[in-house]
Amino acid sequence: MPEALLAIKEQFESELASRIAALPDSRIKEAMGYSLLGGGKRIRPMLLFAALDAYGVDMQFGLSMACAIEMMHTYSLIHDDMPEMDNDELRRGKPCNHIVFGSDIALLAGDALQTLAFESAASTSDAIKAGKLCLLLAKKAGAAGMAYGQDLDLAGGADTSLDQLEAIEMYKTGCLFELPLCAAAILAGHDDDMDEWNAIGKAIGILFQIQDDLLEMTVSEEQMGKSLSDSKNEKATAISLLGYEEGARRVEAYFDEIEAILDRLSLDDKLLRSLIDSMKNRHN
Ligand code: IPE
Ligand code: IPE
Ligand code: MG
Ligand code: MG
Repeated sequence: MPEALLAIKEQFESELASRIAALPDSRIKEAMGYSLLGGGKRIRPMLLFAALDAYGVDMQFGLSMACAIEMMHTYSLIHDDMPEMDNDELRRGKPCNHIVFGSDIALLAGDALQTLAFESAASTSDAIKAGKLCLLLAKKAGAAGMAYGQDLDLAGGADTSLDQLEAIEMYKTGCLFELPLCAAAILAGHDDDMDEWNAIGKAIGILFQIQDDLLEMTVSEEQMGKSLSDSKNEKATAISLLGYEEGARRVEAYFDEIEAILDRLSLDDKLLRSLIDSMKNRHN
């Protein structure tokens, strides 16, 4: 991660922790903190900060929304790992939420992280922008966004076609990458740039999933910090459909596409480009 993001990342981590600390003591609070605090790569919030920087907006203005995005993402992971979905055991280098707290509390911790995400987005200091951010959050995470992709994913199997796989990834992963970039445009008052940010988010989502599939071939569960369950769950992956070489080639092609869209946006985006660049050689 670029050094220029380290200070805001530290602030982000403490803002996240204090939003959990403010809750009344309960099993749900403990379970929420267990999955949310520590362990995640924080790529989505960092994309928000770097895109704000590209607009010349103070990154602090994005803190509440960055917390909201990470809460929404973490809720999606808690539920995704549960026996009814991917039935996994390891996440963010630790036993999954439902393994530690039981499925009942894990379910509630996910629910409550989702509502806390809206509370956090709504606390953005500009009330009009806060409203727009809540709407964006709902659309990107809901039944026309990430949750829709999760539904498509559950319905798919080993015989999923490449086009179907791309649609699954576009929604289940792409939408939560579109979210921070579109949020930055709203915070910066550049709602007119939304098409470009949606296109970049979609490309990041798909290439991110292919990277996951590539890593799955070469890296252990311990290094990834999560269960690698696609074959156990009999899921088609980019690699099972395309092979390793072609998968890696497509990742490169998506990075090139992103650069071309950034060229069109023509912002002062050195930090954002270097953050995206750092994603080229992620190891988990
Ligand atoms: C995991 O996302 C879910 C996928 C879309 C593959 P990340 O790889 O960003 O997970 P964390 O936040 O670092 O745990
Ligand atoms: C996770 O997708 C996407 C969401 C939680 C929305 P996967 O199920 O493919 O990712 P991992 O391997 O569990 O991280
Ligand atoms: Mg899944
Ligand atoms: Mg999963």
